[in-house]
Amino acid sequence: MDTLTLTRPDDWHLHLRDGEALRAVVAATARQFARAIVMPNLKPPVTTVAQATAYRDRILAALRETAGDEPACSGFEPLMTLYLTDRTPPDEVRRARESGVVHAVKLYPAGATTNSDAGVTSMAAVRATLEAMQAVDLPLLIHGEVVDPGVDVFDREKVFIDTVLESLRRDFPALRIVFEHITTREAAQWVAAAPAATTGATITAHHLLYERNALFKGGIRPHWYCLPVLKRETHRRALLDAATSGDPRFFLGTDSAPHARHLKEMACGCAGCYTAPHAIELYAAAFDSVGRLDRLEGFASHHGPDFYRLSRNAQRVTVRRETWTVPEALPFGAGSIVPLAAGEPLGWRLAS
Ligand code: NCD
Ligand code: ZN
Repeated sequence: MDTLTLTRPDDWHLHLRDGEALRAVVAATARQFARAIVMPNLKPPVTTVAQATAYRDRILAALRETAGDEPACSGFEPLMTLYLTDRTPPDEVRRARESGVVHAVKLYPAGATTNSDAGVTSMAAVRATLEAMQAVDLPLLIHGEVVDPGVDVFDREKVFIDTVLESLRRDFPALRIVFEHITTREAAQWVAAAPAATTGATITAHHLLYERNALFKGGIRPHWYCLPVLKRETHRRALLDAATSGDPRFFLGTDSAPHARHLKEMACGCAGCYTAPHAIELYAAAFDSVGRLDRLEGFASHHGPDFYRLSRNAQRVTVRRETWTVPEALPFGAGSIVPLAAGEPLGWRLAS
């Protein structure tokens, strides 16, 4: 198969940032995706419906400013999320449900990742808020890693399943949960065994394409560093099996997380891979690697809207087999940003 036409995909996990970073990246996503679930980990975090609505307006303004009337970007719809804190009032959940703007609430264990300091310190602290979410049927998106410094960084997701997720699932059986950016076989198995109506998981392109050796190939490679960190090959294979299985619980979420080049190439570099500009091509390469391009449309374009109870997109896009080289760097405000796989060949390309 040399060309593949599919329903226009959506990105169910995206970081767009704010200000000049937002202006640098938003069109890249809008060129590929019709909609995106926008993560709320700004500084300060997006914790209220009023903040989410104002952020949505800034995203659309930045897109107008940078993409003008570029047809591929028209109609892009940011789907907003709230950042769950120990103090999120149940009333804010009800306002979110009524807003039509906010589609989910994101749980970051405090300290787990970039801008997560305001996150949740214990599940007991958010009980009433989760009850309200379950009652109004607003999905909970979970960064599933424990933060205990005694737990090996490669085991944090697996330990989270055993110590947090299992009991959460039991205590809130009707709460819709998305286990975000899963990285392990244990997570894929947990999701596949959970009820489909209330359980989903996003999988990034980089976790389908790379295992942890990519971090150390010929020296330390900061542009492959993200959280949850890349795992061993056995886990990558399990994720690829899950993504290409046709199971509706698994859907596309890039976790494209832009950081300026100088903030990654330093002694204590930031976590996050920037994949938005070539996201669908990376996923096509991953699915093609196991001969399962026929399953890309379900994963990229059907399972996500079905879980979120939104309509599937009407437009279609085409990717074709063509080898091109990912740019070494892209403009990012006054500086630059290095996309994932910079300077490397990629075998698929989105037709304009
Ligand atoms: C994300 C970021 O930079 O905001 N970083 C990352 O490594 N994925 C945060 C996150 O999703 O964990
Ligand atoms: Zn993320």
